[in-house]
Amino acid sequence: MSYKLLEGKKGIIFGALDSKSIAWKTAESVYENGGQVVLTNAPIAMRMGAINELGEKINAPIIPADATSIDDLNELISKSEAHFGDKIDFVLHSIGMSVNVRKGKHYTDLNYDWLQKGWDVSAVSFHKLMQTLYKNDSMKEGGSIVALSYIAAQRTFPNYNDMADNKAYLESIARSFGYFFGKNKKVRVNTISQSPTPTTAGQGVKGLDAFLEYAEKTSPLGNATAKDCADYIVALFSDLTRKITLQNLYNDGGFSNVGISEEVMEYFNNL
Ligand SMILES: NC(=O)c1ccc[n+]([C@@H]2O[C@H](COP(=O)([O-])OP(=O)(O)OC[C@H]3O[C@@H](n4cnc5c(N)ncnc54)[C@H](O)[C@@H]3O)[C@@H](O)[C@H]2O)c1
Repeated sequence: MSYKLLEGKKGIIFGALDSKSIAWKTAESVYENGGQVVLTNAPIAMRMGAINELGEKINAPIIPADATSIDDLNELISKSEAHFGDKIDFVLHSIGMSVNVRKGKHYTDLNYDWLQKGWDVSAVSFHKLMQTLYKNDSMKEGGSIVALSYIAAQRTFPNYNDMADNKAYLESIARSFGYFFGKNKKVRVNTISQSPTPTTAGQGVKGLDAFLEYAEKTSPLGNATAKDCADYIVALFSDLTRKITLQNLYNDGGFSNVGISEEVMEYFNNL
């Protein structure tokens, strides 16, 4: 769907790893809507090469940056501004990683070095990114910054492990930094709380298939796909959502407000 909502707008998209990534779908939707993009990912993710394909398709330069490194972020932002010849209208933080999840460490037996690494990558990097943008005065007035979250920040999903705590921290950073970005730079900051989605990061969560099915059967509209999320992000980057800020917005087919669905009742009735 292209409404050309982002005609003339320029921004940075973090986290396109492969064609399943929410960031990948977002970059495509932004491009279809007339926006210009700089793509970035951790240098290690670049080695897989898929991002080059996306860069060619949407005519976007690729600038590697580890989102936990202030030096990398400064360089990324100054190179992006030089490329656009302008300040930045929108930024997507689509980054998540837990070493404890990756290595199968249980929440009651966490390794705290791994916890700190995952917290830095998944949550603190959002503060580092916004602080770098803020100090360099790189965002245009009316701009929009979005990060991606999950409902495990509010409710317990045991297999989500320490990522639940990282998402709670991420959402809090969005509100805390969003206040100053709103007051002093007239920039919006929001998080989108997305349905479980079959991506590389999503697949790290133990039992994702059961997760996906349960959420699908609970949500009146079914799970939101990566493409649905991309379209919502385009709306949040556009001028149609000028007064929405400091929010955690659910893109989940209604999951977050359902106690139990008829389908889930039926499943237990038939046991
Ligand atoms: N997949 C889901 O079920 C789901 C649900 C809700 C929210 N989310 C969130 O959506 C976002 C995107 O994840 P996805 O599902 O598209 O998976 P993905 O694996 O495609 O994307 C995660 C990205 O994070 C990048 N990354 C990791 N460490 C980094 C670093 N140090 N610097 C820069 N980038 C780094 C990876 O290279 C990758 O591109 C994440 O924040 C994730 O937690 C995902």
